[in-house]
Amino acid sequence: MGVIADIIFRRRHTDVYSRVDKERLPRHVAVIMDGNGRWAKRRMLPRSAGHRAGVERVRTIVRMSSDIGVKYLTLFAFSTENWKRPADEVGTLMKLLLEYLAKELDELNEKNVRIRTFGDLSKLPEKVKAEIDRAVKTTEQNTGLTLNMAINYGGRSDIADAVRRIVADGLRTDEIDEACISRYLSTAGEPDPDLLIRTSGEMRISNFLLYQLAYAEFYFTDTLWPDFDEWEYLKALDCFARRDRRFGGIGGK
Ligand code: IPE
Ligand code: IPE
Ligand code: MG
Repeated sequence: MGVIADIIFRRRHTDVYSRVDKERLPRHVAVIMDGNGRWAKRRMLPRSAGHRAGVERVRTIVRMSSDIGVKYLTLFAFSTENWKRPADEVGTLMKLLLEYLAKELDELNEKNVRIRTFGDLSKLPEKVKAEIDRAVKTTEQNTGLTLNMAINYGGRSDIADAVRRIVADGLRTDEIDEACISRYLSTAGEPDPDLLIRTSGEMRISNFLLYQLAYAEFYFTDTLWPDFDEWEYLKALDCFARRDRRFGGIGGK
C-alpha cells in the first residue's frame, strides 16, 4: 500500500472503530454473505467477479471483527445446496477459498485469529482440503477471534450428524438434553450466535445454523455482500446494540 493510501486507510478505520459500542458488542456474529451474483450482474460482469469482490469484504469484516473484539465470527461460505450451481461457479468459489486462506493465513495468525471450519469437507478438492488443514493447524493455539468458516455446511446435516454421533457414542436417553446436543454440533464449545447478518435483501436462513440461531438477533440489509464495508458492519452492530433481548422473559431496558 502507498503512504497516502495507508494514511487514508488508517484514518477511515480509526473513525469507524471508535464508534463501535464496545459495551454492547455481540460475542458471536454469524453472516450469510449473499448477493455476489447480483452485484456482478448490475455491473454486467460475470458472477465470478462478484465472488472475487466478495472476498475483499471477507477480509474487511474479519479484520474489523478481530480489531474491535468480537470473539466468534461464523461466515457461511458454501452451503450443502450450493453444489446445485454450475460446475465452473463451484470451481471459482473453491479457488477463491483456497486463495483467501493461502494469502491471509500469515496475517490472521499474527492477529491471533483461530480458524475453524464447519461442514463436510470430505467432498472438497484435495488442494482446498490441504490448505484448510494447514490454516486450522497453524492457528489452533490462537486465543483471539475464532473465525468459523462454514463450507459445505447445512444446518440440518449438522443436526443429523450430531444425532448419529450421539447414538454411536451410546449415550443414554436421560443424558441427552439441549446442552448435550450443543456439544455435538459444529459450534461445540462456542456460544450461540448473538447476531445473524444476512445481506442482499433475502429474508431466510437458507439452512444455516438452525439449532444455534434460536435466540439470535436477525439483521437483514438490502446491501449486497461486496458492498458490505466497515460502515455497513457498524450499522449492524449499532442496530444490535439497541435491541432488547428478552429470551422469553419480560426484558429490562
Ligand atoms: C453469495 O452470493 C455467495 C455464495 C452463496 C457462495 P450469491 O452467489 O448467492 O449471489 P446472488 O444471491 O446470486 O446474488
Ligand atoms: C446462502 O446463500 C449460502 C451462502 C451464503 C453460502 P444462497 O444464495 O445459496 O441462498 P438462497 O439460495 O438464496 O436461499
Ligand atoms: Mg444468493
